[in-house]
Amino acid sequence: MAAIRQLLHKSGQEVLKAFAIAIRARDWYSRQRPEGQLLGKHRSQFYSAVWREAAAEVGANVELLHDDVFEIRLGQALTRTRQTATAADDPVTLDVAANKPLVYRLLSKRGLRIPNYCEFTLGSIGQAIAYTKQFAGEWVVKPANGAAGRGATTGVVTAFDLVRAAIAAAAYDSNLLVEQQAQGDVYRLLYLNGKLLDAVQRSSPSVLADGRSSIRKLIQLENQARLKSGPLGGQTLIRRDLDLHRTLAKQGLSLCSVPKRGTVVTLKTVINENSAADNVSATGKLCHSIIEDGAAAADAIGVRLAGVDVITRDPRVPLEQSGGIILEVNTTPGYHYHYHRRDRGIAVAIPILSSLLLQATEKLGSSGEPGGAKPPDAVIYRATP
Ligand SMILES: Nc1ncnc2c1ncn2[C@@H]1O[C@H](COP(=O)(O)OP(=O)(O)O)[C@@H](O)[C@H]1O
Ligand SMILES: [Mg+2]
Repeated sequence: MAAIRQLLHKSGQEVLKAFAIAIRARDWYSRQRPEGQLLGKHRSQFYSAVWREAAAEVGANVELLHDDVFEIRLGQALTRTRQTATAADDPVTLDVAANKPLVYRLLSKRGLRIPNYCEFTLGSIGQAIAYTKQFAGEWVVKPANGAAGRGATTGVVTAFDLVRAAIAAAAYDSNLLVEQQAQGDVYRLLYLNGKLLDAVQRSSPSVLADGRSSIRKLIQLENQARLKSGPLGGQTLIRRDLDLHRTLAKQGLSLCSVPKRGTVVTLKTVINENSAADNVSATGKLCHSIIEDGAAAADAIGVRLAGVDVITRDPRVPLEQSGGIILEVNTTPGYHYHYHRRDRGIAVAIPILSSLLLQATEKLGSSGEPGGAKPPDAVIYRATP
């Protein structure tokens, strides 16, 4: 406790910041390595195939303008895409949605369920420690404006845990959040203009023990397999961070452990780095109330193309009943877990492109230009194998 008290002083905070900078530097370095470059290449190839396929399906012409920037035309309607970036949402909406505390305020105003949370910085970490003392249970610490699970740590209980997790989060943003950890699975609900396009249940990343290899080795093998699997499977790797160490420790394991053959080892509680095998379609599992809450969340933030994340123990009952929450309203959501998962995927880019072209057509009409293109069919679905 004396050590924690020392960290709350000015000189202690400078030490915390130095640790955070070191974590950020390590992350930057790993992205420059060949594996990081290969991930980027896979992502680029995946979205190139996705937009080309969608354009072919709606009968549009596609031209690669630069790197990942595609210009897609149908008649006079024109839209541009760059991987997940589209014209669906304006830049201010993207900024609002990226600000987690602001999103929570807007969701709460709508009466939607969110976790109890407290905003803080490394300079006010004492307030965060005091806040967590008010409620029992586990906490999550994360950057207030983070993405892809970077710097998020679950299972925070003690003041020491919180300080360590805050350092990890501060590597990505100086504004931090500590919030109550919700129990249950994470569901991604993809909405387009308020309509649910698809839902995916996303489980934690895991590895299957072979009885000979350490967990460190199993992670290495899993990452190698992902990179080898190309654009569909190789878009994220498992990074060794605090959430990994805490999740393993909860199971009485460390990177050096050699679990018995056949043991499924959960690697992280933060789900973002899971694989296609950890994702499964959930559209049929969700009750009407959760689907409505997700649509209301997207509407509260003003997002047209929204990946709403929900955590619940039971998707068949309303969130009030299960104690579930709305976690996030993501803009420019990823597509790979809709296309490629344990069961049949859905080519979500097709209805998205239809809508983008319709939006472009309406713009042409409103600007009074002659001969606007015929609007494409509103929504076309095609399931991928
Ligand atoms: N309050 C929470 N309760 C349980 N899990 C959480 C909570 N907050 C974050 N997580 C886990 O961490 C992941 C990343 O957090 P999230 O808020 O979605 O940030 P990011 O923008 O980095 O994806 C989530 O998908 C979930 O697995
Ligand atoms: Mg998220």
